[in-house]
Amino acid sequence: MNSTPEILVFSTPQDLFHAAADEVMLAAQQAVTARGRFTIALSGGSTPRSLFTLLATSAREFPWPQTFFFWGDERHVPPDSPESNYGMANEAMLSKIPVPPGNVHRILAENPDASAAAADYEQSLKTFFALGADTLPRFDLVLLGMGPDGHTASLFPGTQALREMSRLVVANHLAQLNTDRITLTYPVLNAARCVLFLVSGADKASTLREVLEGAGAIENYPAKGVQPDPGRLVWLVDQAAANLLRRAGKSTS
Ligand code: 6PG
Repeated sequence: MNSTPEILVFSTPQDLFHAAADEVMLAAQQAVTARGRFTIALSGGSTPRSLFTLLATSAREFPWPQTFFFWGDERHVPPDSPESNYGMANEAMLSKIPVPPGNVHRILAENPDASAAAADYEQSLKTFFALGADTLPRFDLVLLGMGPDGHTASLFPGTQALREMSRLVVANHLAQLNTDRITLTYPVLNAARCVLFLVSGADKASTLREVLEGAGAIENYPAKGVQPDPGRLVWLVDQAAANLLRRAGKSTS
């Protein structure tokens, strides 16, 4: 039985990002206490930038040397592209914190062959997590966002990657955007100890209601397919995005 999602609604995006930073800090401290390290997969897009900036400027006691960074997905672009999820995280946070370079495991999306980049990243996960055959990496925390179309990571509606249940990482062709992406697959996302969605903005309100309260198929709303078990599923959303929820979770701040 999957855990019921924890849904927390915040009055403003700023409150949302502060709460998210607290969640990340807590997860990091718990992981380092329990296992001596904190493994996190970062989300991309624009929403997390404010969180990354907050973590870089205010999280003084953060265990950066014991923190290992990965990505949930990446665009098929070089790291210095304005589209790069790594590039955004590096500019907002990684370049500003004392994290050892060897702790940062970016997706080498400059490879012209997206499938090769995905295979390379999958191998890096198997090596880092010392995975045997048919075992999954268990991230301490996976950060995710949600697009207005219900996609998360680079799991987009109607795309091949939604059906991938054995590979850890795949290249996913997005006909709707005429591009390729590299993405973690559902098995990896759902093996996480905690998945933290950050959703902000009125443009996502109807999709968020569908994902959290609707009967639509995962094929059409891929964020619905993220059901960590036995891990925690936490949705941190602002009021603008939560406006259409009928059973909004605990409103806070
Ligand atoms: C990406 C992200 C993607 C993102 C959503 C939401 O590569 O774009 O990983 O899944 O989380 O598109 O993006 P915003 O937060 O910018 O709305």
